[in-house]
Amino acid sequence: MHAIQIQSDVERTLLWQPSSDPVCGTGEVLVDVHATALNRADLFQRAGKYPPPPGASEILGLEIAGEISTLGTDVIGYQVGERVCALLSGGGYAERAVVPVEMLMPVPEGLDFEQAAAVPECFLTVFVNFYMEAELQAGEIVLTHGGASGVGTAAIQLARASGNSIFVTAGSAEKVARCEELGADLAINYREHDFVESVLAHNDGAGVDVILDIVGGDYLHRNLKLLKPKGRLVLISTLGGARTEIDLRVLMGRRARIIGSVLRSRALAEKIEIKQLFMQRFWRMFLEGQLFPVIDSVFPIEQADAAQQRMAENRNIGKIVLKVR
Ligand SMILES: NC(=O)c1ccc[n+]([C@@H]2O[C@H](COP(=O)([O-])OP(=O)(O)OC[C@H]3O[C@@H](n4cnc5c(N)ncnc54)[C@H](OP(=O)(O)O)[C@@H]3O)[C@@H](O)[C@H]2O)c1
Repeated sequence: MHAIQIQSDVERTLLWQPSSDPVCGTGEVLVDVHATALNRADLFQRAGKYPPPPGASEILGLEIAGEISTLGTDVIGYQVGERVCALLSGGGYAERAVVPVEMLMPVPEGLDFEQAAAVPECFLTVFVNFYMEAELQAGEIVLTHGGASGVGTAAIQLARASGNSIFVTAGSAEKVARCEELGADLAINYREHDFVESVLAHNDGAGVDVILDIVGGDYLHRNLKLLKPKGRLVLISTLGGARTEIDLRVLMGRRARIIGSVLRSRALAEKIEIKQLFMQRFWRMFLEGQLFPVIDSVFPIEQADAAQQRMAENRNIGKIVLKVR
């Protein structure tokens, strides 16, 4: 098969090159990949800052959609040719990928492979962090930074679907407009307005119950100012810096909780549980059109470099997809 290989030059160029076929074992299936989607983590992995967890493929790519081509031993309930999508620990930027059978999700009726490849990572990330880690309750308000990111566009939709108000921040007028269109109750251009002041002005100083943060750094003390008593802050990335200083008395006074969370390095059993709970609660909404992946652009896999460049420049609204077949 062919796969994207990271070259050893300074730019760490991405090239579509011959690569050995993955082997599917017991309880796994081999999928002919039709499309994969980019995640910010791919940029960190390419730069050598986010190695795959032990046992995962060295090839980039955390999600795919395609057709099952081979069934491993002990696989029941699936057939060759079935249209599936899945979250992976790696190996998505390739013509074939191995998936544990319990991680398979059917391609929702009405979605093509390019759309289906853009579903797993962002929706499962938001699901685990909103509903399992932060235990988001009906009627609570959430704030999500990076509202126009792949994760952010899923967060807006899931919050709306569960009846929660959602406030977001984003870095341009165009991104703010798209977040509002998707249903954000408040979208703040953080380059023009202080998000703490904007949120407090919007809801008479009440603040929010849950924050999903991708920025870290000095956002931590600013986020804490917004948390209501017993609020929860889930940190899933540190795009704005990994070190900071906070006044711990604010944390105590609000009886707030800070939760750190990653998805990729969780045990398979945990990921399976997350996928199952997500599907039970939300899958029908993809079939009804209430939930959908927001696609920024589709590039041929051979242009993975250009696709990642677009993400590195923060130009995408929603997901960037790579078409493999
Ligand atoms: N822990 C986990 O399990 C997990 C899982 C999935 C994703 N993530 C993280 O979630 C984030 C979103 O992922 P994605 O793939 O959806 O990313 P994405 O589509 O590339 O979007 C990231 C957006 O973050 C904003 N941003 C970048 N640097 C920023 C900074 N210093 N301060 C504020 N905003 C900044 C940019 O939008 P603006 O123009 O609006 O600034 C950028 O477009 C990534 O950081 C990713 O690593 C974590």
